[in-house]
Amino acid sequence: MAGKPTLQTTRLVIRPYGEADIAELLPLIGTREVAATTLRIAHPYTEQDARGFLAITKEPDKLWLAITLQTDGRQIGGIGLRIETQHRHAELGYWLGAPYWGQGYATEAAREMIRYGFEDLELHRIFASHFGHNPSSGRVLKKLGMRYEGCQREHLRKWDQWVDSELYGLLRQEWKKGE
Ligand SMILES: CC(C)(COP(=O)(O)OP(=O)(O)OC[C@H]1O[C@@H](n2cnc3c(N)ncnc32)[C@H](O)[C@@H]1OP(=O)(O)O)[C@@H](O)C(=O)NCCC(=O)NCCS
Repeated sequence: MAGKPTLQTTRLVIRPYGEADIAELLPLIGTREVAATTLRIAHPYTEQDARGFLAITKEPDKLWLAITLQTDGRQIGGIGLRIETQHRHAELGYWLGAPYWGQGYATEAAREMIRYGFEDLELHRIFASHFGHNPSSGRVLKKLGMRYEGCQREHLRKWDQWVDSELYGLLRQEWKKGE
């Protein structure tokens, strides 16, 4: 993958993370609500977690970007693609700080990441999954035109509970048709 891009949408700038983002990131990502429906966000979330995450964002097969508002540059969340070059597919993931839920930001950011994945990275397939108890993420994936591919029953362990994983996918040719 070439360098990490900065992407723009109507309301958002989606851009690479830097050290200077840590102070703003911690209170946003550190709430229980954000951790509760994500697989890889620690809770509590420490500065060490943030530094580890920043290191991961530099890996060539990871594209994790900060979602910020165009108006004032404020961070509101994060979005990423975990790329498997061999298969030309990637897993999409995203989160927003709780004050920013319900305003269409996740859909807006993800739509642009999908465009980047298919157009610029020339991926063949993008997929995503959400916990069974997180229907709003399922709604985001449907709004993106993803196809529901099934429920992996009790596939994951979260906070001492078995949780279902609902899988969605989008192929390049389907995305092109729906563009
Ligand atoms: C999931 C998340 C990213 C959604 O972000 P968002 O910006 O609020 O999403 P959008 O506003 O684009 O869309 C949310 C949709 O879910 C719907 N929704 C909200 N609560 C819902 C519920 N309990 N059941 C069904 N749909 C719900 C909204 O009505 C909206 O759909 P609509 O546009 O058709 O009305 C955000 O809640 C979040 O960051 N949660 C914590 C982290 C997380 O779960 N990340 C995803 C891991 S898979």
